[in-house]
Amino acid sequence: MGEYKRYTVTSALPYANGPIHIGHLAGNFLPADIYVRYLRLQNEDVIFVCGSDEHGVPIMITAKNEGVTPQDVVDKYHELNKRSLESFGISFDIYSRTSNENHKVNASIFFKKLYDDGKLIEKYTDQYYDEKAQQFLADRYIIGVCPKCGYEDAYGDQCERCGSSLSPDELISPRSALSGSRPILRKTKHWYLPLKDYEQWLKTWILEGHKEWKVNVYGQCKSWLEQGLLDRPVTRDLSWGVPVPLKEVIGKVLYVWFDAPIGYISATQELCKKTNKNWELYWKDKDTKLVNFIGKDNIVFHCIIFPAMLKAHGDFILPSNVPANEFMNLEGKKISKSRDHAVWLKDYLEQYKDKQDVLRYVLCANMPETKDSDFTWQDFKERNNNELVANVGNFVNRVISLCHKYYDGIVPECDILSDYDKITLAEANNIIQKIGSAIEKYHFKDGLLYWMDLSRLGNKYISDEEPWITYKTNPNRVKTVINICIQIMAKVAITGNPFVPFTSKKITNSLKINDIDWGMSCSDVIVNHGTYVDKMDVLFEKMD
Ligand code: 2FM
Ligand code: ZN
Repeated sequence: MGEYKRYTVTSALPYANGPIHIGHLAGNFLPADIYVRYLRLQNEDVIFVCGSDEHGVPIMITAKNEGVTPQDVVDKYHELNKRSLESFGISFDIYSRTSNENHKVNASIFFKKLYDDGKLIEKYTDQYYDEKAQQFLADRYIIGVCPKCGYEDAYGDQCERCGSSLSPDELISPRSALSGSRPILRKTKHWYLPLKDYEQWLKTWILEGHKEWKVNVYGQCKSWLEQGLLDRPVTRDLSWGVPVPLKEVIGKVLYVWFDAPIGYISATQELCKKTNKNWELYWKDKDTKLVNFIGKDNIVFHCIIFPAMLKAHGDFILPSNVPANEFMNLEGKKISKSRDHAVWLKDYLEQYKDKQDVLRYVLCANMPETKDSDFTWQDFKERNNNELVANVGNFVNRVISLCHKYYDGIVPECDILSDYDKITLAEANNIIQKIGSAIEKYHFKDGLLYWMDLSRLGNKYISDEEPWITYKTNPNRVKTVINICIQIMAKVAITGNPFVPFTSKKITNSLKINDIDWGMSCSDVIVNHGTYVDKMDVLFEKMD
C-alpha cells in the first residue's frame, strides 16, 4: 500500500443476454470485490467500475430467438444482473451499460482519435455473406468445423470446445447461423488495428516488465506474442452496436471487443460526474493503479488488444495487473448456458435468502486462481457445516454467550495480561498481516484460509483458558479472558469484511463498532469495556 495515489479496479463487463452464474462470480466479480473492499478498508482512493456489455452478435441472436429487439434483451438482463450482483454484496461504485449515450459518444471519440491519428488501417476483404438473410456474417453468425479440434459447431470467433480463438475464414464447411445456408464471399470495407506495430512494445512491456503477473496470464501473453500478432478488425457489418463514427459509413458498427473495454472508461466518467470528481485522474495519471479482474477467456483482449488500443490512443495509463482466474466447473462439468448447467445467482438468492456469505465463502475457498476448480453442492454443505458453522459461527456464539452469562452482555474490563494472552494477541495481529498481504498479492484463497485461522485461534484460546472453570476459582481473571475474546471477535469481523461482508456487519453491529478500517483491526482495544454486546441469531445454520 502507499505506492499509488489511487486505484481504478474493473471487473469484466458481463454480456447482458443471460443471467449471472457462479462461474462469473468466482472468475472475476468476487476477487475484484474482495480486493476493492480491502483497499477501502486501507482508506485508499479506489473506484470499482463495471456494467453490462450490451453489444455483439450473441445479443442479436438472443433477440432473434426470443422475437424481441436487442434493446429489449439488454434492458431485461441489465436490470436483473445489476440487482442480483448488488444483493450478493458486489460493491460497485457504478454498474453502467454500454448501450447508453455517454458510452456511445465516448467509444466514438476513442475510435475517431485512432482514425484521425492514422493508427487504423482501412482494408477491403472478402467476408461471408448470407444471401437469404441479406447480411454479412460476423463472429457468431457463422458456424463451422473447428480447424483445431474438429468440433462441428465452432463459432467464427471462437471454438467453445477447445477455446481456440478463430477467424471466420479458418472454419471448415462454414454455414450461416441465421439461415443455415452456405454463405458466399462478398467484399466489404473495415478498419483494423495493426497489432504488429505494437508487438515489440508489448513484448517489452509484458514479458520483461510484468513478470509478476499470474503464471496463467503471463503464459498466455507469451504464447500470443511468440506466435506473432495479426491485424485486428475493429469494425463489423452489423446493425447493433456503436455506429462507426465516420461520414458516409452506414450499416457498420464498432466491434464489441473494441467498445466494451472502453466501457470501463465511460463508466468512470459517469461515476465521476455524479461524485463531482475528475475522471481523468483515474485513467490518465501515472500514480493511479489500474487493475482489471477477468476470466481466462478474456486474457488476450485485456492484456494485448486493449493495451494496444490504449497505447495507440496515447493518453491513458495501462493496467498494472490483470489478475485472471481460470474457470469454475459445476459438479465436474463445464458450466453451460445452453445446457442450463449452472448455478444462477438469482436462483441462489431466492432459495438461500440471506445466505450470500455462504456462497461467497465457498466460491472463494474454491476460487480457480491457478487452475480450473469444481463447485459441488456436497462441498458447499460441508464447508458450511465444518468450517463456517463449526469454526467462525461457533467462536462468535461462544463469546457472546459467555459475555452474557457472566456479565449480562457488558464487555468486562481487561486486567493484567498473561504471557499466553500476549502471545495470542500477537498471533492474531500476525494473522491479520498475512491476510492483508495475501489479498495485496491477489491470493484470495490464502487470504480466506488465514482469516479462518483467526477464529480458530479464538476457539483455541477459549478452550485453553476454560473460563467456565476459572470462573469458580478466579472470577477476576475471566474478565480479562472475555475481554480478549471480544477483541479477537472484532478482528474477525473487520478483516472478514472483504470475504463475508454481511457476517462482518452483523458482528460489528453487535459490538457497536461503526466505522471500520484495516488498521483498527490490529489495535489492542477495539471494543471498550462497558460496551453492551447484542445477542445475535446464529451466524451460520447447519445444513442437512
Ligand atoms: O467475456 C465476456 O463476458 C465479455 N462481455 C467481457 C467484456 S470485458 C470488457 F472488455 F468489457
Ligand atoms: Zn476447437
